[in-house]
Amino acid sequence: MDKIKINGKSDLYGSIKISGAKNSALPILVSSLLSEKDLFIKNLPDLEDIKNMKKLLNKFNVKISSTSEVTIINSKDIINNSADYDIVRKMRASVLVLGPLLSRFGEAKISLPGGCAIGTRPIDIHLEGLSKLGCKFKIEDGFVIGKVNKMLNGNYIKLPFPSVGATENLVMASVLANGKTTIDNAAKEPEVQDLINCLKSMGAKISGEGSETLVIEGVKTLNEAKHEIISDRIVAGTFIIAAIMLNKEFMITKVCVKHMESLINLLIEMGANLIINNDTIKVLPSKQINGTTIETAPYPGFPTDLQAQLMALMTIANGDSKIRETIFENRFMHVPELNRLGANIKVKKDIAFIKGNRTYKAAQVMASDLRASVSLVLAGLCAEGVTTVNRVYHLDRGYEKIEQLLEKNGPIIIREKM
Ligand code: EPZ
Repeated sequence: MDKIKINGKSDLYGSIKISGAKNSALPILVSSLLSEKDLFIKNLPDLEDIKNMKKLLNKFNVKISSTSEVTIINSKDIINNSADYDIVRKMRASVLVLGPLLSRFGEAKISLPGGCAIGTRPIDIHLEGLSKLGCKFKIEDGFVIGKVNKMLNGNYIKLPFPSVGATENLVMASVLANGKTTIDNAAKEPEVQDLINCLKSMGAKISGEGSETLVIEGVKTLNEAKHEIISDRIVAGTFIIAAIMLNKEFMITKVCVKHMESLINLLIEMGANLIINNDTIKVLPSKQINGTTIETAPYPGFPTDLQAQLMALMTIANGDSKIRETIFENRFMHVPELNRLGANIKVKKDIAFIKGNRTYKAAQVMASDLRASVSLVLAGLCAEGVTTVNRVYHLDRGYEKIEQLLEKNGPIIIREKM
């Protein structure tokens, strides 16, 4: 298990270009299962989760070839294999193969995902929606086995919660279904919209993207298509917060500003000094960053995937802060680790109470989930001394070689291969 050592307090200068969004790339890779024609994808990020998704698709005999610019995927000769526990437990997005496999073969078998560090994360909303489209499920030996009589039939589905994954699974399942499907209370995240735009370029008939009501008219087949993945708003937000914490001038490029309004507005309200152009955000030193109160929410609210990073900033802000986590029931695993680095954060149920005006001090810490681990790196950049972040495989799932990214811009940061 690799570890990362950060010799803080770090300098930071220059600029960083943001890669393609992990949470767009994963469902878009899966969407290729729906088509027998080539799908050309640009701007795929180079992440562990992407490598694992490609491995899973290869299990279904999906043909994948890549140049430096484009990944070409073809699912003409796929076989209906099962998605097994070892891959599903590592990457929950594996459950997204359910919809496409049911469309293509009328049956699918995937391991139940099990919980993860940030909560139980069931797939009941996925399964209830797919049942509305005519799928019958049974649970056997830790697997979910779905069967469809002939083909999926369009229907009206109202989600009890705007689940990102369930919306994506149900949209993909509806694309080749017989007739019209309406999904109410659908997720509106930019990554869901990116998937829909890719499906539409493949010939799917979908309307309402960005709204909470999606309407999908089933089609018979899909065509060859090209798609470029949107920029990763969570990675961009992470580096903006890093620059504010270090109070250094820093440029973030290839950003989709319109996807980041809730973060940008919050940071400006806290006192951040940002210069925003169409696809760049420049952080300038600011006089003072003040604490605030926020709660996470489905898009366009404040994203849960930036909650840990914001908490790291709030610890050194002027005055106390509060964060209420409304999306996951256990997404405060970074709190004890941030406290080891000098923070003073208390959690009561779904609210974290963050003392401000703290000073980070280097320590050994343990990463628990993807976004928690990056909040420890941010704190380590600000801490005097050498901070060691253990279990950085969590980090590699969502951040391309973060130590290589950062060391070009000032921080003294090395990876120790174990
Ligand atoms: C997606 O996860 C993202 N992952 C997550 O990013 C992100 O945090 C999350 O959406 C919320 O925005 C990918 O896109 C690959 P949900 P997903 O279904 O689809 C409950 C990261 O760091 N729920 O919107 O799993 C669930 O337990 C990751 O990149 C059910 O109860 O999120 C959670 O509490 C972490 N039943 C809430 O809904 C279901 O059937 C939100 O889940 C489905 C979800």
